[in-house]
Amino acid sequence: MKKIDSISEMQKISEELRASGKTIAFVPTMGFLHEGHLELMREGKRRTDILIASIFINPIQFGFSEDLDAYPRDMEGDFKKAKNAGTDFIFIPSVKEMYPKTFQTTINLKSITNHLCGLSRPGHFDGVAIVIAKLFNITRPHIAIFGQKDFQQLAIIRCMVKDLNLDIEIIGHQTVREDDGLAMSSRNSYLNSKEQISALCLKKSLDLSIAMVNGGVTETLKIKSAIEKLISTHSFVEIDYITICDPETMEDINIIEGEALLALAVYIGKTRLIDNCLLNA
Ligand code: PAF
Repeated sequence: MKKIDSISEMQKISEELRASGKTIAFVPTMGFLHEGHLELMREGKRRTDILIASIFINPIQFGFSEDLDAYPRDMEGDFKKAKNAGTDFIFIPSVKEMYPKTFQTTINLKSITNHLCGLSRPGHFDGVAIVIAKLFNITRPHIAIFGQKDFQQLAIIRCMVKDLNLDIEIIGHQTVREDDGLAMSSRNSYLNSKEQISALCLKKSLDLSIAMVNGGVTETLKIKSAIEKLISTHSFVEIDYITICDPETMEDINIIEGEALLALAVYIGKTRLIDNCLLNA
């Protein structure tokens, strides 16, 4: 696995690979890799000749009060894991390389960011959109793979790719979970043992909602209040949002007809965790 920190070198390699007829998969990450990231990498390697991954903690997607400095890091461990998962090139630019002093451009997606995490993390998705647009232009992939745990992020990237006519296939990969059901996330490392138990309320809420819909309940208010009740029996948990919405536009819905997205964000102590599932009525 080759490590590359320069944009021009990464672009040159990607162009040469494409010119020689190789197909490229790209998996962007912010590091502190877990099995969820590694599954995305393995999936990329299965689908194409070359796998490029990136590790870049993107400062412009963190709000003022968020955990940029505390964000967990383990570069050496990440290199070993990425290599074992089949990564051919790992792109690890510095902040200065990605955002020189002259940098001015913004990307702002309109209504799709005004829901779910976009409400409690203003500016977050604009920061994600910019870094992903840059990384796509640097790594020149044929396909890019994102986890469905960040469902809104995936929807936003799909929307940006469509709006800007980028010739990249976006693949959503199912959420990878711990044995107890907790969705894998770098932020899980912040949880102490008691908080880990409370965090299981997320998966339990998804299971409860699926059971309710399978049992014929389609009123989203009823499902949301059942989730609130379930979560209230867990310590250290504060709800940020419980939303049932259209999986493409993220607009709230009242009655489930066809496919709907249930998305949750909760604080477990100081740690904000998200999870989601599709509901089908
Ligand atoms: O999901 C993440 O880890 C980040 O938002 C991403 C997609 C790597 C962009 O910085």
